[in-house]
Amino acid sequence: MDSNNRLYIFDTTLRDGEQVPGCQLNTVEKVEVAKALEELGVDVIEAGFPVSSPGDFHSVVEISKAVTWPTICALTRAVENDIKVAAEALQYAKRGRIHTGIGTSDYHINYKFNSTREKILERAVEAVKYAKKFVEDVQFYAEDAGRTDNEFLARVIEAVIKAGATVVNIPDTTGYCLPEEFGAKIKYLVDHVDGIDKAIIATHCHNDLGMATANTICGILNGARQAEVTINGIGERAGNTSLEEVAMIFKSHKDLNINTNITTNRIYKTSRMVSSLMNMPVQPNKAIVGRNAFAHSSGIHQDGVLKNRESYEIIDPRDVGIDENSIVLTARSGRAALKHRLHLLGVELSKEDLDKAYESFLKLADRKKDINDDDIMMLVGKHLNKDARIKLDFLQVTAGIGLQSVASVCLDIASEKFEACSSGNGPVDAAINAIKQIIHRRMVVEEFLIQAITRGSNDVGKVHMTVEYEGNHYYGFSANTDIVAASAEAFIDAINKFVH
Ligand code: KIV
Ligand code: ZN
Repeated sequence: MDSNNRLYIFDTTLRDGEQVPGCQLNTVEKVEVAKALEELGVDVIEAGFPVSSPGDFHSVVEISKAVTWPTICALTRAVENDIKVAAEALQYAKRGRIHTGIGTSDYHINYKFNSTREKILERAVEAVKYAKKFVEDVQFYAEDAGRTDNEFLARVIEAVIKAGATVVNIPDTTGYCLPEEFGAKIKYLVDHVDGIDKAIIATHCHNDLGMATANTICGILNGARQAEVTINGIGERAGNTSLEEVAMIFKSHKDLNINTNITTNRIYKTSRMVSSLMNMPVQPNKAIVGRNAFAHSSGIHQDGVLKNRESYEIIDPRDVGIDENSIVLTARSGRAALKHRLHLLGVELSKEDLDKAYESFLKLADRKKDINDDDIMMLVGKHLNKDARIKLDFLQVTAGIGLQSVASVCLDIASEKFEACSSGNGPVDAAINAIKQIIHRRMVVEEFLIQAITRGSNDVGKVHMTVEYEGNHYYGFSANTDIVAASAEAFIDAINKFVH
């Protein structure tokens, strides 16, 4: 492949993404994410900022040991001790990169450093030279390059390349640039920096004005060949450019003739993993990985997609690892959409039965915003899981204010009884812990939603749950007037889908 067409994907989920309050991971979780990024095909993993904490240092060491082919990168300021510590943390990396840099905009020079352009330029060069003593691969970032005067930026970039920088990162740290302006900045460097061909230009765009991906694409179309991204676009404030958007833009727009090494059908899986480990839900309408990204709800769109996917879809959901588009059934859905969903659920109806089912469906859809698979199965009289291998035999829970919640559970597994008792952080947690004691598997409850069907205190609660097991996601459902029982049954419903 012509190296000019190859776009390097630099993932900073574990550094810029992990800086987000509440998204912190422990070392084991970071290694898990790093391995998933390796499988996804990213070229560089920014594993942390080693001088910032012993935890970050340790994570860079462990990720370096665990990951084989991507380059492992460690962040530093333009400070000797930061660089020395980063080099130490990278000692086990098969390919290690130090990422050092300094603010170059007048905002940073005057207010953050109380310094001058000349002194900042000197510090930039010294930092790169010092980093070169430890590793060959040194990346320099000009923080707030988005608001840095282009002429000065070009001087800094030229000087750090002369000092040995192999990659020059042009961050739009504040997410301020317009796409055309950011593209022009990259072009300015391509045209004005002596020796620019000796380094790779990188983009690192933040999303404060919702333009991170657009800015990244403009940067690449003007000569950048490394995109700095995160899974689900997580990162400081409004986040960073998202990996999945960049990868799918170049996959969809073949005419741009830019290729990445991303195995796109691993995108969805990796997105879910990062979202669940970092406790950071993905907005439903997020491009590529949002729950609704491939969900068609209008009757006209549904009919069009069923006749030919490309009528309303530019990406085949399977290309990002989603089984197929989900047709969301609502009061606007047509008979064809209902028939298709029943077919996916393994139910084939005669024309008369379909007509009857469609009539009941419209009545239910008038009362309920969207209709799920369980509703449909109930509509056509086929309840899920009647032959389930694992059934809840009994459940007893003690809970209350000032009391430790405790649950006793008995499961019927293929007609044999198993009992367990456990405490938990609330009655549902206690019940789930007790079930986990019987089913010895590493299962994680990812999504848990309780819905009321009517409005009284004798209401039936519907529980929807997603359980992660060995990287796959299983959906469980139940309805019961006792929401703890409904939760336990939904958990068991999900387990029945992978325990055979
Ligand atoms: O946004 C930014 O400028 C950064 C640098 C440290 C690369 O994250
Ligand atoms: Zn950043």
